[in-house]
Amino acid sequence: MGLQRRLWLCFLGVSFLPVIYIIYLNLEITWRMDILNLTQFPGIWYTQEPNRLHDPEEPLVVNTLSDNSSIAPPTPLSLKVKSTSPARVRPSTEPGARTTKGSDLKGALLKSAKPTEPPFIGDSYYSEDAPPQTDCPDSIRSRVSQTDFGVRYLGRIPVLQWAKHATPEQYQRLRLYPGTHGWANLDFNTLVSTLSVLNTSANWHMFDDWDRRSNGSRCVRCAVVGNGGILNESKKGHEIDQHDYVFRTNGAVIKGFEQDVGSRTSFYTFSTNTLRNSMRSYAGAGYRGPPLSEETRYVFLPDHDRDYLLMKAGATHTPVERGPERSKTPPTYFGGNVTVEKLKMYHPDFIRYIRNRFFRAHAMQTKYKDIYRPSTGAVMLLAAIHTCDQVSAYGFMTPDYVKYSDHYFDHQYHPVGFFINHDMRMEMTLWQQLHRAGLITLYMRQ
Ligand SMILES: *[C@@H]1O[C@H](CO)[C@@H](O)[C@H](O)[C@H]1NC(C)=O
Ligand SMILES: *[C@@H]1O[C@H](CO)[C@@H](O)[C@H](O)[C@H]1NC(C)=O
Ligand SMILES: *[C@@H]1O[C@H](CO)[C@@H](O)[C@H](O)[C@H]1NC(C)=O
Ligand SMILES: *[C@@H]1O[C@H](CO)[C@@H](O)[C@H](O)[C@H]1NC(C)=O
Ligand SMILES: *[C@@H]1O[C@H](CO)[C@@H](O)[C@H](O)[C@H]1NC(C)=O
Ligand SMILES: *[C@@H]1O[C@H](CO)[C@@H](O)[C@H](O)[C@H]1NC(C)=O
Repeated sequence: MGLQRRLWLCFLGVSFLPVIYIIYLNLEITWRMDILNLTQFPGIWYTQEPNRLHDPEEPLVVNTLSDNSSIAPPTPLSLKVKSTSPARVRPSTEPGARTTKGSDLKGALLKSAKPTEPPFIGDSYYSEDAPPQTDCPDSIRSRVSQTDFGVRYLGRIPVLQWAKHATPEQYQRLRLYPGTHGWANLDFNTLVSTLSVLNTSANWHMFDDWDRRSNGSRCVRCAVVGNGGILNESKKGHEIDQHDYVFRTNGAVIKGFEQDVGSRTSFYTFSTNTLRNSMRSYAGAGYRGPPLSEETRYVFLPDHDRDYLLMKAGATHTPVERGPERSKTPPTYFGGNVTVEKLKMYHPDFIRYIRNRFFRAHAMQTKYKDIYRPSTGAVMLLAAIHTCDQVSAYGFMTPDYVKYSDHYFDHQYHPVGFFINHDMRMEMTLWQQLHRAGLITLYMRQ
């Protein structure tokens, strides 16, 4: 009897095993979907297929704003900085300023005077002590204090990050800020192993070859070329190429468009995500990847650890160790001969600073605050304003943008799209203000 009962129980148990297994499978599937949904947020930044509502150059998530030009552009100067003198470096002994040991950071943080802001803003920055690369008498940095932009402009903001910045103190400070505004999505080892490779003076000088090139000139003149449709039939190519340096970004197709956009590229700005998106979306327009030339430097806009991993792999000619770009062979985006001297990376403080002080969009008060950032083109133009002595901007959005296609290389007219992760109208307004202030010359096709 006892044996029979045990056999019966055993039989029951065995026959229920498949049921339990099926329940387990279901649970696991649900669990996997949870994980998927959790990772979908960052995942969407590089897995989503392009479509007409999605700006393929950018890590966009949702299109909430309709293309409605009657919406008043937001006023960029919503930031009230109390200090009247620009770019003052406060000593670290000031209460509230961080003090750091070691000689890497001479204590100085650029601080904001506004105490009531939410912590994600973080309006205090590393202060670079390197002198400017030129002594141009008519530089932007010397003119800015006479304009409305004087109170916002920090002349000592670090534009590029490199080996010196990879310290535990800096990591503690910057790990508070997610995405491209800090190092929250980056573990310390990845940070150190990448930035330690960027240890040459070319990694912290934007114009590392200026001594060879200046030809007696005291001023660095830059052409910054966006991809806007306004360049179609502009015949600005020769003028663009006449500058000391030419900046480009994302799907900058050159072949076949030289008359309108020029042929040189000195600095190519991209994030790994926008580069991959551009290669996929603009292949039809002839975009095959970053421009390759002897003078071209590649400037990463890091918004994820994949940027740090690709940078390191590119600089050391090793495979990308993990993440979406993981590879068995070294990456080839930058040509077979790329050296570490040709690679640079924007500093998260620089991106956070321009977001906070130049592109303080309404999205920053919404649940989209973590995905909002200045567009790649805006970062490039602001970087030029903070490094060049003179800046001419071409192919950036103007108030009559509806007359032009989204990109100069579009096969047919395609309207400019608006997305929540950028604020293109705010950016457009800023270009107008900078032009009126005489800080840039904006091509407007009058
Ligand atoms: C995951 O997200 C998709 C769409 O975003 C949704 O349809 C699905 O129900 C979600 N799954 C879970 C387990 O939340
Ligand atoms: C823009 O929005 C306003 C109000 O929502 C509407 O009256 C107007 O027709 C819209 N314009 C366009 C071009 O869609
Ligand atoms: C820079 O880093 C490389 C390794 O990535 C190393 O071989 C080299 O010695 C370093 N140079 C300096 C000046 O520290
Ligand atoms: C350098 O300057 C001289 C005189 O201003 C000019 O003739 C020459 O073409 C310049 N060289 C280059 C490479 O720009
Ligand atoms: C690499 O450098 C060599 C020698 O300078 C040059 O001949 C070759 O074209 C370069 N290759 C690429 C892909 O730039
Ligand atoms: C570029 O300009 C030409 C001439 O005005 C025009 O025919 C063409 O449609 C334009 N291309 C786009 C994509 O708007």
